Amino acid sequence: MERRVYLDHAATTPVDPRVVSAMLPYLTSAWGNASSIYAEAREARKGLDEARRTVAEILGCKPNEIIFTSGGTEADNLALRGVAMASRGRGDHIITTQVEHHAVLHACEALEREGFRVTYLPVDGEGIVRLDALRGALDGATTLVSIMLANNEVGAIEPLAEAARAVRERGGHVAFHTDAVQAAGALPIDVDALGVDLLSIAAHKFYGPKGAGALFVRQRTPFAPQTVGGSQERTRRAGTENVAGAVGLATALRLAHDEMAARNARLIAMRDRLLAEIPARVPGTIVTGPRDGARRLPNSASFAFEHVEGEAVLLQLDLLGFAASSGSACTTASLEPSHVLVAMGVPERYLRGSLRLTLGTDNTMDDIDRLLAALPDAVARIRALSPAG
Ligand SMILES: Cc1ncc(COP(=O)(O)O)c(C=O)c1O
Repeated sequence: MERRVYLDHAATTPVDPRVVSAMLPYLTSAWGNASSIYAEAREARKGLDEARRTVAEILGCKPNEIIFTSGGTEADNLALRGVAMASRGRGDHIITTQVEHHAVLHACEALEREGFRVTYLPVDGEGIVRLDALRGALDGATTLVSIMLANNEVGAIEPLAEAARAVRERGGHVAFHTDAVQAAGALPIDVDALGVDLLSIAAHKFYGPKGAGALFVRQRTPFAPQTVGGSQERTRRAGTENVAGAVGLATALRLAHDEMAARNARLIAMRDRLLAEIPARVPGTIVTGPRDGARRLPNSASFAFEHVEGEAVLLQLDLLGFAASSGSACTTASLEPSHVLVAMGVPERYLRGSLRLTLGTDNTMDDIDRLLAALPDAVARIRALSPAG
């Protein structure tokens, strides 16, 4: 049997063996509770401190501005609720975008049920947030703006530095958060250059372990802890520390940072071949997200086929040996079209036919050629079987 081809690295990635090696001592020998005082604990504490320093150095912040979390979802929830609750006395208005991950959108909806006002900014046809809408939405009661750095469905890289400038120009005390879960490991991240006060990342998106994430919170940002108990993470996030997870996250981030240029050169070559060839080979296809490669994640190619069920294409591809996604994690369980494609104004006849191919370090140009050879027939077969629309 031919090797399976995994093309869903935006969902998750395999753990790099070098990351596993770095984590192992913290599972087998230095497994003590990092907050205790004996030798086993001191070893664990050293590993945790070192991991925090590494993450801080790569993001361009201070170690005490990093809170380790259980992943991207927790980091996003903690950022939004932490700032919203701490700022409640000054204002009740939050601004985000229509194309955020559900970790942000559902946290915002929960805050709306608790009395906050939320503005969901529109995007253009390529998924880029409209900065004029941001400027128009800021008001005296705005305490928090949350705009993702890169979109998980269509790979669009948002103009964060310009957005941060627009927020600062308006004046007042507005905290600026970004969900950098898809961008971390793929793009250089410097919290000062981006102009953000909070930033979320998740290790499993860049060849680290699942269940390990981090939230950067700039000093003096209003912040109310959302998990209480022990005094870990400077009482901003209680609970015995996941030392192996933090070490895994830091090691994976370091490797991604050091190897970024080489990894991205390979990914971009494969991505651009997909972006050029799929619309040429499959009739009735559009590229979704930015056409300009500089505004897309290096590993992300996304499409929509007219008059076809994307889920049927995914099942067909699975049978042929390819793991791919429709882009939106929720479409498997629901018949709702992707909120991202709807916000982008993608025409109705394409809305259910999305395909997201996200590449990783394990892919080769041979994988791309195999996919390009298989996809046109797969789509044609589905169209013949169940002519949708
Ligand atoms: C943009 C974005 N934010 C947040 C998350 C959630 O991260 P996690 O799965 O680590 O909780 C994801 C995961 O798909 C994502 O793509």
